[in-house]
Amino acid sequence: MTFQEEIKQGIPEVLPGLKAYDENINHAPKRKDILSKEEKELAIRNALRYFDKKFHEVLAKEFAEELEKYGRIYMYRFRPSYKMFARPIQEYPGKCNQAKAIMHMIQNNLNEIVAQHPHELITYGGNGAVFQNWGQYLLTMQYLSDMTESQTLAMYSGHPMGLFPSHKNAPRVVVTNGMMIPNYSKQEDWEKYNALGVTQYGQMTAGSYMYIGPQGIVHGTTITVLNAGRKIAKHGENLAGKLFVTSGLGGMSGAQPKAGNIAGCITVCAEVNPKAVHTRHSQKWVDEVFVNLDDLVTRIKKAKENKEVVSIAYQGNAVELWEKLETENVYINLGSDQTSLHNPWAGGYYPVGLTFEESNKLMVDNPALFKEKVQESLRRQVDAINKHTAKGTYFFDYGNAFLLESSRAGAAIYKDSKGDFCNKETLSSLGEETERWAYHSYVQDIMGPMCFDYGFGPFRWVCTSTDPIDLEKTDKIACEVLEEIKKNSPNEIQQQMADNIQWIKGAQENNLVVGSQARILYADAEGRMKIAEAFNNAIKNGDITESIVLGRDHHDVSGTDSPFRETSNIYDGSQFTADMAIQNVIGDSFRGATWVSIHNGGGVGWGEVINGGFGMVLDGSIEAEKRLKSMLFWDVNNGIARRNWARNEGSTFAIKRAMEINPELKVTLPNKVDDSILHQLF
Ligand SMILES: NC(=O)c1ccc[n+]([C@@H]2O[C@H](COP(=O)([O-])OP(=O)(O)OC[C@H]3O[C@@H](n4cnc5c(N)ncnc54)[C@H](O)[C@@H]3O)[C@@H](O)[C@H]2O)c1
Repeated sequence: MTFQEEIKQGIPEVLPGLKAYDENINHAPKRKDILSKEEKELAIRNALRYFDKKFHEVLAKEFAEELEKYGRIYMYRFRPSYKMFARPIQEYPGKCNQAKAIMHMIQNNLNEIVAQHPHELITYGGNGAVFQNWGQYLLTMQYLSDMTESQTLAMYSGHPMGLFPSHKNAPRVVVTNGMMIPNYSKQEDWEKYNALGVTQYGQMTAGSYMYIGPQGIVHGTTITVLNAGRKIAKHGENLAGKLFVTSGLGGMSGAQPKAGNIAGCITVCAEVNPKAVHTRHSQKWVDEVFVNLDDLVTRIKKAKENKEVVSIAYQGNAVELWEKLETENVYINLGSDQTSLHNPWAGGYYPVGLTFEESNKLMVDNPALFKEKVQESLRRQVDAINKHTAKGTYFFDYGNAFLLESSRAGAAIYKDSKGDFCNKETLSSLGEETERWAYHSYVQDIMGPMCFDYGFGPFRWVCTSTDPIDLEKTDKIACEVLEEIKKNSPNEIQQQMADNIQWIKGAQENNLVVGSQARILYADAEGRMKIAEAFNNAIKNGDITESIVLGRDHHDVSGTDSPFRETSNIYDGSQFTADMAIQNVIGDSFRGATWVSIHNGGGVGWGEVINGGFGMVLDGSIEAEKRLKSMLFWDVNNGIARRNWARNEGSTFAIKRAMEINPELKVTLPNKVDDSILHQLF
């Protein structure tokens, strides 16, 4: 059967052979056994819905085994035998280009060189799923190959509900992931309802088919480290000879050493999983590996002396690293942590004192004890970090729920009115209750005020021809557009423009493509619209051979409501609301997006965030030009308007500029109150 025929057949009529469990693939850890006997039966009943009755007896046993062994039903048998990667768009069967582009994106998200646990359909972040099982994948691809421009596919957490009649200008796909009734949106709810097969954690770009490999994160991390460096610079000096200590060499966290090298500092990154260390070292994303802490300290001292730009992995626990650098009195300039604390009880955080294997066993055999160990470890890690920051280290939360989980663990992550570190309990016994931790998140200090408030965010594109020459042409176009805009940009955004021009100039040389021919940069509304328009023209003229998919990370100015991350620099109380993300996706959907997505969870964890995004196919047509202008203007300015309403000054500046550019935009501006008026009231 050809690739096209396989896609078109969907769920096969003949049962495919069993697939061997490939030990060379990075598999998802076993999930917690959380279902009761009745619930397990329900999970199997749910899974069997996808298959003809004649297969039920065989499959029921097989799925029960998967459930027992892995904690989930992945339907391994149905994983296709063809190679999984983003093919040139015209190789996909189908009736419309937009649907073919979506298939291209889906296959990229499941490509073995892109995805973290490809056989469990997890793209990144430990649990960021494209689908819950292979049955859903097969059906979705079949629907996409059958879809016309007057239909829309409704995706419910990986499950394709079906094709519904719509119209040419409607999105071709509407994706929802993990949308729960709010009272059922706790971590254990995810475990349960995901095991039942009725919901999934889509992270941000996994469940919305917009992940483009590690490049996105390299860019974001480089911008973060560079700007963190600017924050601590006393005389405008760069990061040469300065030490950045962090942890995690996984899907996103693995970008830290490479970004540290681009930003020009010494990076030391702890990682407990030898496989993850090996992957990043063999990819040359981290320069050196140490397993012995004494040797590591000697190496760091030498690197500091020589002001080397070098990245070093410590194969071991982050807590040991922080403690050792304290006892050896090694000064850390920048500190962070990127373990997966959005998923602390199921393999996101490995407690100190246990080996990697011991932890993997304990989290399944005795989840309650494992939780205690994690919390104890977090308390120790925070104590060590506090000792460093007392000496001047600038520590920031890297959007992984480090502060949140540390506070829940009873760590000394608060400061009392005298400036002493303490935990929440001590703070409340002093009658000094506060929601503010001793440290800020990277969005509060860096990304929020410097980027998001001005509309700068992670704009990305994918050349569906898969031709690297097309990508090279788009890099050149984007660079020219940004350089032109920069000539007349206000001072407030000159630094961002300069950083991104430098990034795009070095993009080819930095060899960032893994998987599809994709690129990312940070741009504001004007930049995004002008770049997109120039791409559309290049397709129209035939300079670029095939359609381009536009998109972005949900981690953006408007995409995400997340009180401890994307919207952590909002201080009017609305950081605990999710209107912006919902408004954004609804607004994108009727302004021309090819697909839209809205997710619960993503980054900081289930129940902690609502995030959304879009994909848009540019095909060189007039319609595409209209859509990009209408949708991108809204997609960015929605978030700026809200940030302005929250009294963020950068956003008030940016939205006033947007109103001048487009007089049809009329946004409510906040009136500021003098503190003296408020202080007399209570
Ligand atoms: N890079 C970014 O810009 C960014 C942005 C926002 C959020 N995040 C968050 O960062 C976290 C990490 O993402 P990821 O995709 O890399 O996840 P991941 O699970 O692939 O990687 C985390 C790594 O941390 C390691 N680890 C866990 N506990 C450890 C410990 N105590 N000591 C040393 N290593 C330990 C794990 O072995 C794993 O390899 C997530 O919570 C994600 O949401 C990253």
